[in-house]
Amino acid sequence: RSAVPLPEPYSVPLPLVPVARPEGGGATYLLRAAAADLEILPGRTTRALTYGGSFPGPTIAVRVGEQTTVRLTNDLDRSTVLHLHGGVTPPEHDGWPTDLVEPGQTRDYVYPLEQRAAPLWYHDHTLDHTGPNVYAGLAGAFLLSDPAEDDLGLPRDERDVTLVVCDRAFGPDAELAYPALDPEGRLGGVEERYHGGVLGDCVLVNGAPWPVMEADAARYRFRVLNASNARRYELALDSGVSFVQVGTDLGLLARPRPRETVVLAPGERADVVVDLSGVAAGTRVTMTNRLGSGRARDVMQLHVVRRAADDSRVPEVLSEIEHLDPASVAVTRDLHFALGPVAAIGEERAAGSGSHAGSGGHSAGGHGGGPDHSVHPEMRARGVWTVAGVSWADDRDVATPVLGTVERWRLSSDVHHPVHAHLLHMQVDTGDGPAWKDTIDLVPGSTAEVLVPVRGYRGRYVLHCHNLEHEDMMMMVPFRVV
Ligand code: C2O
Ligand code: CU
Repeated sequence: RSAVPLPEPYSVPLPLVPVARPEGGGATYLLRAAAADLEILPGRTTRALTYGGSFPGPTIAVRVGEQTTVRLTNDLDRSTVLHLHGGVTPPEHDGWPTDLVEPGQTRDYVYPLEQRAAPLWYHDHTLDHTGPNVYAGLAGAFLLSDPAEDDLGLPRDERDVTLVVCDRAFGPDAELAYPALDPEGRLGGVEERYHGGVLGDCVLVNGAPWPVMEADAARYRFRVLNASNARRYELALDSGVSFVQVGTDLGLLARPRPRETVVLAPGERADVVVDLSGVAAGTRVTMTNRLGSGRARDVMQLHVVRRAADDSRVPEVLSEIEHLDPASVAVTRDLHFALGPVAAIGEERAAGSGSHAGSGGHSAGGHGGGPDHSVHPEMRARGVWTVAGVSWADDRDVATPVLGTVERWRLSSDVHHPVHAHLLHMQVDTGDGPAWKDTIDLVPGSTAEVLVPVRGYRGRYVLHCHNLEHEDMMMMVPFRVV
C-alpha cells in the first residue's frame, strides 16, 4: 500500500505518450535509458528509470518489414538489456538476459520486423532484475502497422489511443516503492509476502494515476497493454458501453468480437474498439478492473464531452489468419509451470556465483557472473518457480525445436502464470477461430494447447513467466531453435 496520499480517481488527465521520431532518414530511433524526475502524483516528484525521460517510454511506431534500429544508450547507474516483446528478432538482438549494456555503453538493437502488424512493446530484460527495472519505468509501446490495417477504416489518429496499464505503490516521499530484499538492489528477490508477485494499490494508465480522458461521442480504438509486474485485470465499462475486440497480442483477429470484459495478464495486449457515439455529452464512462479490490478496482474514465463526426468503422472481416493444421505437428511438449522445491535450484547458482557467462551462446561472452546477477539467499530458501521441473539455474535448454516445423505445446500451471515465449508465436483456438498470441494466461488446473510454428531464426531464446517476480525468481528457461 502506498504511504503517501493518492489523488482522487479520475481527476488527473490521461497523458499523451510521446511518439519517438527517427534520426536522419532511416528507421533509427535513439533511446536513452536514464533516471528522471517525473510528476506522477500531482504536485509530487517521483524518481523513475526511463527511456527518453518519460514513463512509459516513447511509443515507437513503424511499418511491417521496415528494418528498425533502436540505439540504446545506457545512462543508468546499472546495466540493462532491451527486449522487443513479440518481435521476431535474431538472437543477438533479442535481449538475452545476460547480454548486458553496461552503464555508459551504446548498443544497436536491429529489428527486421518481418511479421504481422501488431501492438508490441519494449522493456528491460536484465537477469534477476527485470521486475524492479520495469517497475521503475523501463517500458514502452512499439506499434507495428501495415497498409492492409490502414485500409480497414478503424478509428485512427487521436482516436487510436495506446493505454499502458500498470499498478504501483508509492513510499512516503512519493517514490516508487519496490519491496526488494536487498535495499541496494544488487541481489534479486522480493520480500516473502510478494513471492507471488508485486502488486501496488495505485493503477497508472500511461503513467498517470486513474486518469480521465476527454472523449468525443465517437468510436475509439484502444491498444491496451498490461505492463504490470504481476497484476491481472478484467476490464469492464459502465454506462451501457462495452468492448469490441479486434486484435490480440500479435495483431488483428479474423473477425471482430463483442466482449463484456477483457482479461489481461501481465505482458498481454488487447486491441479493442469502444463505441461512444451513443453516449450523451457529459457522461463519464468508467473503466474498472473486476479482479481488483479496494482502489485497484478503479482504472480510468472516459469523459464524453462533445458530439463529433465519425467516419470510422469496424468491418466484418479484419484479417486473414492462416489456420495451422494440427496434423502437421512434429512434436508435442508438456510444459508445466509451478513452484519447485528448493532442490530444483542448480548448485552453481545456489552457491551464489551466479555465473552463466556466455550462456547466450551468441554473445561475445563474458556476461553474467558477479553479485549483480544473483538472487538473494532468503529468496532461494523459499524455493523457486520452475518450468517443466527446471529453472534458470539449471542452464539447460528446455526444448530444441526445429526451424520450419510446427509444435504443439500443452501448457499447465499451479497458479496463474502468464507464459511468454520469445521469437515464437503461438496460435490459440479461441472457439470461433484462431488468434495469435505471444503470452498465454495459464489458468490453474487446466491445460492450454497452442500450436507453435517454429519460424524466424536459429539460436537460443527464452521461455518464461511474465509475472516479473516469477521471472526474476528463475521461472525462465532457454530453448534453442535448431
Ligand atoms: Cu516481455 Cu521476455 O518479455
Ligand atoms: Cu508465473
